[in-house]
Order: sequence, then C-alpha cells, then structure tokens
Amino acid sequence: RGCKLVGCGSAVPGLQISNDDLSKIVDTNDEWISVRTGIRNRRVLSGKDSLTSLAAEAAKKALEMAEVDPDDVDLVLMCTSTPEDLFGSAPQIQKKLGCKNNPLAYDITAACSGFVLGLVSAACYIRGGGFKNVLVIGADALSRYVDWTDRGSCILFGDGAGAVLVQACDCEDDGLFAFDLHSDGEGQRHLRATIMQNEVDHVLGTNGSAVGFPPKNSSYSCIQMNGKEVFRFAVRVVPQSIEYALEKAGLTSSNIDWLLLHQANQRIIDAVATRLEVPSERVLSNLANYGNTSAASIPLALDEAVRSGKVQASHTIAAAGFGAGLTWGSAIFRW
Ligand code: ACO
Repeated sequence: RGCKLVGCGSAVPGLQISNDDLSKIVDTNDEWISVRTGIRNRRVLSGKDSLTSLAAEAAKKALEMAEVDPDDVDLVLMCTSTPEDLFGSAPQIQKKLGCKNNPLAYDITAACSGFVLGLVSAACYIRGGGFKNVLVIGADALSRYVDWTDRGSCILFGDGAGAVLVQACDCEDDGLFAFDLHSDGEGQRHLRATIMQNEVDHVLGTNGSAVGFPPKNSSYSCIQMNGKEVFRFAVRVVPQSIEYALEKAGLTSSNIDWLLLHQANQRIIDAVATRLEVPSERVLSNLANYGNTSAASIPLALDEAVRSGKVQASHTIAAAGFGAGLTWGSAIFRW
C-alpha cells in the first residue's frame, strides 16, 4: 500500500500585527525585523478566538479539496505545541468536523517539526495499519506563550493552521518518497517554554510525598530562546537532513520542483537553499505575511502555493521542519 496527498487547506486569525505595530510595544523597527527575518506581518488569535476552530476550518477545506466526506476520515493527527486542552485538541477537531464514525484523533507535540512528523506518521498508519484517510493538521498559537516584552523573540511568531489529507493508494502511486527524522534533547536549553516548577513543588512534603492539599494551577513559562544558537542549528542540520532524504529517494536537489522549509526566518531559508543549490524561484516562502506559525507553517505555505497554482499536480516537494526539542526532519513527497 502507498499513500498520497489529496487535499490541503489553511486558516489564519483575522487580527494582523505589523512590524510598525510591534515597534509601539518594544524597542524595535520595521527595518530591523524585515532585514533580519523577512517578516513584515503576523496574524494573532485575539479574545475568545479558538485555535481548535481554526484547525477545524483548515481541515474542512482539505476535505473539500479532496472530496472526502468527514465520515470517511479514520484518523485525525493534530500537530501542535499549544493545545487548548492539556489532554489534547484533536478529538475536539474531530467533533467539529462531524466525523460520525469516532475515528482516532490525538495530538502530536514536536514544535515546528510537528507537521513533518505528522505526515510521516500518517504514511506509517496507512502503509502498515490499513488506515485510508488521515487528516494531518499543523496548528499553533505561540502568541499565547510569547514574552511580549522580549524584542528578540516576540517579533518572530504568529498563529495559524494548515492541513492535508493523506490517502491510501496503490504502491506504484506512492507519493511519500522518503523521510528523515531526528531529535536532540541536549539542545533544549536553546528554545523552550517549560512548566513553572515552583508551583508544582509546593504540594510536596520534604520527603517528596503529597502533603494533602490541592495544587495551584500550573502554568508554562514564556518562550525562552537563544536565537543565534537556533539559527546555527537550523542551517547546519536542515540541509543534511534534506540531502539524506533525497538520497534515500534516489533524487538530488535538481529533481525537486519546490523547497518548502518551516517558515522561521528568511535568512535560514536562503542559507539552506544556497547550500542545496536550489534557486530562489523554486523556494516557497510566505513568511513575510505570517511570521513563524510553528507546526502550521509548512501546510499553510503549501496550501497557498497550491491554491495560487504555483504547486501543481505531480510536483515534487522537499519539505523540512526544525525547532524546539530540538527536533528536525524532512520529507520528500509528490503533490
Ligand atoms: N529590534 C531591534 N534590535 C533587536 C531586536 C529587535 N527586534 N532583537 C534584537 N535586537 C538587537 C540585539 O539586542 C542586538 O543588539 P546589540 O548588538 O546592541 O547587542 C542586535 O540586535 C543583534 O541581535 P542578535 O540576537 O545577534 O540578532 P540576530 O541577527 O541573531 O537575529 C534572530 C536574531 C532574528 C532571533 C535570529 O537569531 C533568528 O531568527 N534565529 C532563529 C530563531 C528561530 O527560528 N526560532 C524559532 C525556531 S522554531 C520553533 O520551534 C518555535
């Protein structure tokens, strides 16, 4: 059994924050942000906006494009690091889509690599597990965890959702040619949003046993990032990973129609493209409009490129995600 991508969709919040808007809350300016990152605007969830609803909207569009009924979905993978329920958001998406057959739905947490990991997981379920229609959604709302007083990180992130439908097909039509996935817990110190330890410790007695009163609500810290280290990590591992996956697929970078990287920084995208000798005309980027939307960035850029006619049927795409964990990975697939 093989698998192929048969539909995509995306959704972003209505509220837009420009670089000029940000310059009113932190000491920054449009020129610095544009030159150092390529980002000009980002979309941010506001008030009672729901990431789960955004994810469901993206997934619904992917199903419509694929002409697949929600009742025929047998797995929903929600790739997110910012779920609206600690126990997972995916079942809520399944409910919002109206999938009547109770398909399995669960979350995958792998930061900005989440979508690539979800795509590969979908392929494994289809190839080995008899699943037919798997929705892979990448959706994040990092704006909820950004330190809006830290000009070194708050300028980077935006919120959004993207989705693809991966479908079973005959082996000869298989559309996921190869993949490569990694993590390195050692590098976690460079990018993290960890639980506030003090709030957990206070319920423990001196011998470590619970003292018998209910805990206060726990919470996570804001995003703490060493931008330079993350930058170095990305430009080192991403070309290696893509080259390795291409080799496994029996391809070289000259065979790909599009390079589609996690949208974190235009300078990272340019450096990787240069290393792989992929000309800028074959590199997808929508970073200027949305900033870094974490697990959403790859399916969001894919969806825009498909709907604008850039990415066409049978095009070969090399996609790579990288980010917190640290995690990284690439997938070579046909649209
Ligand atoms: N506006 C103006 N000046 C700024 C800003 C800002 N927003 N931010 C930092 N500066 C200043 C610094 O204070 C520093 O000033 P100094 O020279 O007087 O000390 C100077 O600009 C240079 O700062 P650097 O941090 O060295 O700037 P750099 O070129 O490294 O760019 C950036 C910073 C944009 C964060 C870059 O390192 C980067 O993009 N790294 C990758 C980050 C990333 O992709 N993270 C997400 C990963 S995905 C995930 O899993 C969530």
